Amino acid sequence: MPIAYRRLVKADADLLAEFITSEPWPFHSGTATDPGKIRRKVRRGHYNNRQIRTFWMVVDGAEVGLIRMELIDEMPRIDLRIRATHRGHGLGTEAQRWLTDYLFAELPELHRLEGPTRHDNHAMRRAFVACGYTQEAHFREAWPAPDGTLHDTVVYTILRREWTAARRAEPA
Ligand SMILES: CC(C)(COP(=O)(O)OP(=O)(O)OC[C@H]1O[C@@H](n2cnc3c(N)ncnc32)[C@H](O)[C@@H]1OP(=O)(O)O)[C@@H](O)C(=O)NCCC(=O)NCCS
Repeated sequence: MPIAYRRLVKADADLLAEFITSEPWPFHSGTATDPGKIRRKVRRGHYNNRQIRTFWMVVDGAEVGLIRMELIDEMPRIDLRIRATHRGHGLGTEAQRWLTDYLFAELPELHRLEGPTRHDNHAMRRAFVACGYTQEAHFREAWPAPDGTLHDTVVYTILRREWTAARRAEPA
């Protein structure tokens, strides 16, 4: 499934509000449920400013996924979510690969990229591995769920040199 990546703009406020509030987001603590608040956040630059960039994943002309990145040199923070209707078709893996390329290219000082996820988020864990990440940590009871349950957190990382070597090995 070919994916186009389109930068979110302020005019997308309604679309984003619909995207976030129209379905539950597993493995996200405290996802916003108030469309007005989301629209205000778009207007205030919470999704696009000097340090934050947000992209839609567009498939067949429809916005089916979202990547929000905080470009912090030492440790970028990433929020990746795909509509339930489009999960399990390889889009998450493709997006993780794309955002890894994007961050190493945009942040020349970035030495390593870390991705935490909940231990039972099997799709995300497999996507990390498919993109060349290695599991480096397992933190017990470190991920609070909205119902108060404390889940384990696992952390995957990729080093710049691993990313570079993988790119060199890609067929031309
Ligand atoms: C996590 C998420 C981004 C993964 O994207 P996706 O498009 O569903 O994943 P993919 O289709 O690329 O699958 C990745 C791998 O997980 C496997 N997989 C997919 N869904 C799975 C599931 N429900 N259970 C177990 N494995 C699963 C796939 O077979 C694939 O493994 P493989 O490469 O060994 O074949 C997506 O499911 C999502 O948005 N989930 C809700 C929000 C979320 O969890 N975001 C991440 C927070 S850290």
